[in-house]
Amino acid sequence: MGIELAAELKERIARAKAQGLPQHLAIIMDGNGRWARRRGQARSAGHRAGLETAKKIVEFVGQELGIKYLTLFAFSKENWRRPKEEVDSLMELLADFLEKNLDQLLENGVRLRVLGELDGLPLRVRQGLERALALSRGNERLHLSLAINYGGRQEILQAVERILRDFAAGALPAKIDEALFRRYLYTAELPDPDLLIRTSGEERLSNFLLWQSAYTEFWVTKTLWPDFTPEELLQAVESFQSRQRKFGGVLES
Ligand code: FPP
Repeated sequence: MGIELAAELKERIARAKAQGLPQHLAIIMDGNGRWARRRGQARSAGHRAGLETAKKIVEFVGQELGIKYLTLFAFSKENWRRPKEEVDSLMELLADFLEKNLDQLLENGVRLRVLGELDGLPLRVRQGLERALALSRGNERLHLSLAINYGGRQEILQAVERILRDFAAGALPAKIDEALFRRYLYTAELPDPDLLIRTSGEERLSNFLLWQSAYTEFWVTKTLWPDFTPEELLQAVESFQSRQRKFGGVLES
């Protein structure tokens, strides 16, 4: 196990670590379909290649960089509109991933979370996820969240519904502030993402982490997800480190 890293890359990693890493990195892994089409292959082959990239990136982020929180957009609510064959192959890929990789994830101290609704997922995926969630609960080296059956607007609406329910039950004060609201999101236990990477050149949020991305720095690349590398991820981190975040205020001189 372990990725072979060139000496120059190792130096850049050491420098990036010394400068302060983003605490939470989120990624929209886009471009699997285009990657497959360019090779005359089925879209499912693109997703398979995308999964291999995801595994490499998880390892790089957790083991080499030591970023604490990584969130990957694996399947959106809107993705159900894709042809059944493609949805089935993605679900199978997810279930296989969990079955084949759980031991290694646990060994590497990964705590898995799901952002999204488990209801509505095929039984094998759901069972695989529930097992992974339970077994990884005590881990804290890398908090890996998979957004699956996820939609940002739906997340906000379900939070509102649950707040109303708790309010009606007398369990909440009349004043709803940000701190209270965020406790009702799937990300209740996570810090907001500091950096969001999107591959394949699209410059949209696509209903991903709408509330949480209020002050997130974006970094987009034309690279299609299966071709995305640790080196490029490091480039994103370096770009992030060169920016000055103001959170709506002004910079102190
Ligand atoms: C977007 O590419 C990608 C997806 C909808 C699925 C992403 C899933 C994986 C990479 C595999 C599962 C990952 C994990 C971590 C278990 P697209 O199909 O929209 O590409 P296109 O825009 O080129 O058509």
